[in-house]
Amino acid sequence: MLQEARTQIQQAGNLEALQTVKTHYLGKNGEVTRQLKSLGALSPEERKVKGQEINLLKQEIDGLISAREAELKEAALQAKLASEAIDVTLPALSLPSGGLHIITRILDDLSDIFTRMGYNVVEGNEMEDDAYNFQHLNIPWYHPARDLWDTFWLKDGRLLRTHTSPMQIRYMLEHSAPLKIVVPGKVYRYEATDATHESMFHQLEGLVVGDNISMADLKGTIAELARGLFGPKAKVRFQPSFYPFVEPGADFAVWWENPRGESKWLELGGCGMVHPNVFKAVDDLREQRGLPRMYEGKTGFAFGLGPERIAMLKYGMPDIRYFYANDLRVLGQFKGELQ
Ligand code: PHE
Repeated sequence: MLQEARTQIQQAGNLEALQTVKTHYLGKNGEVTRQLKSLGALSPEERKVKGQEINLLKQEIDGLISAREAELKEAALQAKLASEAIDVTLPALSLPSGGLHIITRILDDLSDIFTRMGYNVVEGNEMEDDAYNFQHLNIPWYHPARDLWDTFWLKDGRLLRTHTSPMQIRYMLEHSAPLKIVVPGKVYRYEATDATHESMFHQLEGLVVGDNISMADLKGTIAELARGLFGPKAKVRFQPSFYPFVEPGADFAVWWENPRGESKWLELGGCGMVHPNVFKAVDDLREQRGLPRMYEGKTGFAFGLGPERIAMLKYGMPDIRYFYANDLRVLGQFKGELQ
């Protein structure tokens, strides 16, 4: 019987089969159990001898089964581990990943440059009132300069801001001088689009107000901006220009050689010394709200620049419309490290 049991135990290919073998020999009605039960019919001497023999047999079979059980468990574990093995040298699946839009990145860079100079970064609404977009900025309804800003009007008489300058007024209304802020954001112009014009684009507005702020401070700030953007060799140029909310007003350009060896003057934006009428408008509004007049007699400068123009020059983007056409072949080029 032991011989036969040994073979069957060895041949049991899994724990289930082994259990069947175990039941067959050691179960309630198993072969060995039956033998043990038959002892009762024997004489005491025979029982003693036979009993020892059967118990030995039982122990032997039990031991064989335990050993086989351990063997099968180990084999099952090994098989499981093998099935879970990962080949870390296999190439990974590439997951599609997004990134910040190139204009967002440039606005972030600009905000960093100004934050380092002690400016606060604030944002405003894209829907504005005529009063903030124009009137308080020294542009009355009859002023021909309104033609500079072709406007999208909303049905309720409001408009989509044509520049970030309304935030000059809104900020001064709620804060005291001295102050230094930049305002990144979207602006809208009702214009035919072409390679250099879009009906939606971005601006970064700057406003500094204090005592004895001069044009020299403005020029130094723009020069610092140019170096922050394009490195220590960047140069700036100012040309007289007109904006109703500054006097004197200027346009500024930056000279910079890009990695492709091209260099030219990049017209970056407008700037100037805050017009006294702007300070007066703010004080009038403050007075209406029961706030102290505090801006008349102050001095300050403001500027506004276009991040799209920086991106176009820096990265050789030939058409401003590519930024907002949602073409991943274009946008995907600006995901990683940028120079
Ligand atoms: N707001 C002006 C524009 O959109 C730019 C500007 C801002 C000019 C501040 C002077 C001072 O054209």
